[in-house]
Amino acid sequence: MQQTEADRNDAMPTRRGLLRGAAACALTAAAAGPDAAQAALRPIPFGSAAEIDAFRSDARYREALKRYCDVIVPMNDLKWQGLRHDRPRFDFSGADEIVAFAQANRKALRGHTLLWGDALPPWAKEMTTRAEAERELVNHIEIVVDRYKGRIATWDVVNEVIRYEPSPDTPLRDTIWQRLLGPEHIEIAFRTAARVDPKARLVLNDFLFEEAAPAGAARRKVALDIFRRLRDKGIPVHGLGIQAHLYGEKDLDLDGLQRFLRDLDALGLDVEITELDVIDWKLPADPVLRDKLAAARVSSFLEAVVAAKRPKAIVTWGLTDRYSWVPDTFPRQDSARARPLPLDTDYRPKPMMAVLERFRRGTA
Ligand code: XIL
Repeated sequence: MQQTEADRNDAMPTRRGLLRGAAACALTAAAAGPDAAQAALRPIPFGSAAEIDAFRSDARYREALKRYCDVIVPMNDLKWQGLRHDRPRFDFSGADEIVAFAQANRKALRGHTLLWGDALPPWAKEMTTRAEAERELVNHIEIVVDRYKGRIATWDVVNEVIRYEPSPDTPLRDTIWQRLLGPEHIEIAFRTAARVDPKARLVLNDFLFEEAAPAGAARRKVALDIFRRLRDKGIPVHGLGIQAHLYGEKDLDLDGLQRFLRDLDALGLDVEITELDVIDWKLPADPVLRDKLAAARVSSFLEAVVAAKRPKAIVTWGLTDRYSWVPDTFPRQDSARARPLPLDTDYRPKPMMAVLERFRRGTA
């Protein structure tokens, strides 16, 4: 999300611990009688994005990833900017480190992202022809998806392709991809990813589907239109990633969101919550109150989602308030530190973590 615009898994590797936990949970519920069995939800894998500098320098960060996560997403290292600083040479160093850590600790992986209008190296923004853009896009996806085939089970194939406030004439965001390839950039990306790794789960990832303002409904409609078009053309697509950067101060359209989730379900699509955090720039400064409000927001959002459609995973965009994009993009007017995530700066769980753990255990 740009500041201007911004005021703007099931194909997962073995999660034996989690599955054992799920079985134990179901047994306990069954033993307690049919009502309890009904009330028990299936556990939902929980995860976080991992930021490479923190990952490398802070042992407590790595411990938190091990302790809390079933799923890990390299936060920036699979973006074009991370991989393609030099046009001819791919730099996989950061992504490889996080992928190896995830594998060593039996965490599933999400790949973020194969196509985005942001986080592009300068040379990519200077492409001039359709042929060049298509060649670069296809080549990039072939190399990246092939390298992590069998290890990264789910890909955010395209990220933030929906216009911030779409209109019927201009549903898609104005990016280098849209300018050079038109709406077909979405199809090219999905088709290529599916060809290279036919077993991968392929996701369209975007934001502000929960927005109460008219843009929310318009954005949901564009997402459904994209999915229908991909389906009509026989292009594989498996689900929607709902970023869920939730504004603390705005109303949520939970009814609209639930209708949308049912529409996605009818199309045979999965959903995942992919970048959850609470944008707390306009919430009261008091940290105890702010944490309470943030937890309540996450709780009502997730409860509404789960009631309409169980997401395949719930992933936050970082774990600790020590490292988050929120204060950079959504700075507070006062000097209070941002508190968008489930752990505080000292790695102590906040009320938001208790909410997330309920969904992870399946006891929400
Ligand atoms: C953000 C990262 O968290 C920052 O570290 C980076 O500087 C900019 O990108 N939507 C997305 C993510 O899809 O990739 C963005 O991540 C946050 C908004």
